[in-house]
Amino acid sequence: MEPGLLEPIRVVVTGAAGQIAYSLLYQIAKGDVFGANQPIIIHLLDIPLMMDVLQGVVMELVDCALPLLVGIVPTDDPNVAFKGVSAAFLVGSMPRKQGMERKDLLSANVKIFKVQGEALNNHASKDVKVLVVGNPANTNALVCSKYAPSIPRENFTAMTRLDQNRAQAEIASQLKVGVAKVKNVVIWGNHSSTQYPDARYATVELNGQSVSVPEAIKNDKFLKETFVDTIQKRGAAVIAARKMSSAMSAAKAAADHMRDIWQGTGDRWVSMGVISDGSYGAPKDVVFSFPVTISNRQWKIVPNLQIDDFSKAKLEITGKELLEERDDAYSVCEQ
Ligand code: NAI
Repeated sequence: MEPGLLEPIRVVVTGAAGQIAYSLLYQIAKGDVFGANQPIIIHLLDIPLMMDVLQGVVMELVDCALPLLVGIVPTDDPNVAFKGVSAAFLVGSMPRKQGMERKDLLSANVKIFKVQGEALNNHASKDVKVLVVGNPANTNALVCSKYAPSIPRENFTAMTRLDQNRAQAEIASQLKVGVAKVKNVVIWGNHSSTQYPDARYATVELNGQSVSVPEAIKNDKFLKETFVDTIQKRGAAVIAARKMSSAMSAAKAAADHMRDIWQGTGDRWVSMGVISDGSYGAPKDVVFSFPVTISNRQWKIVPNLQIDDFSKAKLEITGKELLEERDDAYSVCEQ
C-alpha cells in the first residue's frame, strides 16, 4: 500500500449495469465519496441477463485508470456481492416508467430488498452503511433492515437527497444566487409525490449575511404551493422530458448522501430517510425523511423545530402513505 493511503474497503453497487450506476461508479471510484486516500474494491451486482452489459461497464472502469480503484468484482450472486462490504448502494430495481405510480412498483421491488437484506445480514461487515436508492426507496430500506437483524437499523437509510438538491437549486434560482449560498432546506417523509419540501428554516447568504429564506423570498404562497408542487413533481417532469427517470442527478445525490455519512456534515442539515423514532409526530418504525446532522458516521435528527399546522398536515399525509406502503410490503414479503 502506498504511503498515506488507507487499507482498501469493499463497496457494493447493485443495479450496476443500469443508468444511475453508470454515473455513480465513476464518482465512487475516483474518490468523491470515501475520500482521496481511500482505495476501493468495487463489487458490481446485477441480474444474470445483464452480465454482458456489466462486462462493458467493467471494461470502462478499467479504462478510466483510476488509482484508488484496486479491485472489481462483477457478479449476479448476492452472496458474492455483499461479502465483506463496508458500504452498499442499493440502486438495482425496476425503475418507474411514465404514468406508473410508486405503488405499482412496490410488490415487484420489495422482494429484491428482502433477498438483499438477508445477503447483507449473512455476508456484509456488521457496521456496513446501506443507502437505498431503488424505489420505493423508503419502504425498500425498511424491508432490507427487517431481513438484516444483525446490522443496526440506523445503518439503513433511504435517498431523499435528490429532492433536497432539487429544492436547494430551486430556491437558489428564485433568489438568483449560487446554489452553495442556500442551506438547510428540508425534505420530510417519503421519496414520492407526498414528500414535503420545507424551506421554513432554510437560510441564504446575501451580501455576506445569512438571511432566512422565507424573509428573502417574501412570498408565502410560493413557498407553500408552487415550490412544494414543483419539487414533488420534478421526478415526473424529468421522466416526461427524457422518457427515462433521473440518472445523472440521482447518482450525484447518492454520492452526496454517502459522502456525508462517511465524512460528516458539520452543522449543515441534510435530509435522508432514517428509521423513525416518532419525532415530529411522524409514525414510528417506518423509514421517514428527516433533517439530520452526521458525525462519526452516526446521524442525529435535528431537534426542536416547530411544526406549524400547515406542516403538520403535510407530515400526516406522507406518514400515512409510508404506513400503507409498510403494510403492503410486509404482506408481499410474507407470501
Ligand atoms: P435502470 O433500469 O437503468 O437500472 C436498474 C438496474 O437494476 C438494471 O440493470 C437491472 O437489471 C438491475 N436490477 C434489477 N433487479 C436487480 C436485482 N435483483 N439485483 C441487482 N440488480 C438488479 O434504472 P435506474 O435508472 O438506474 O434506476 C434504479 C432505481 O433508482 C429505480 O428504482 C429508480 O426508480 C430509482 N430512483 C430513485 C431515486 C431517488 O431519489 N431515491 C431517483 C431516481 C431513480
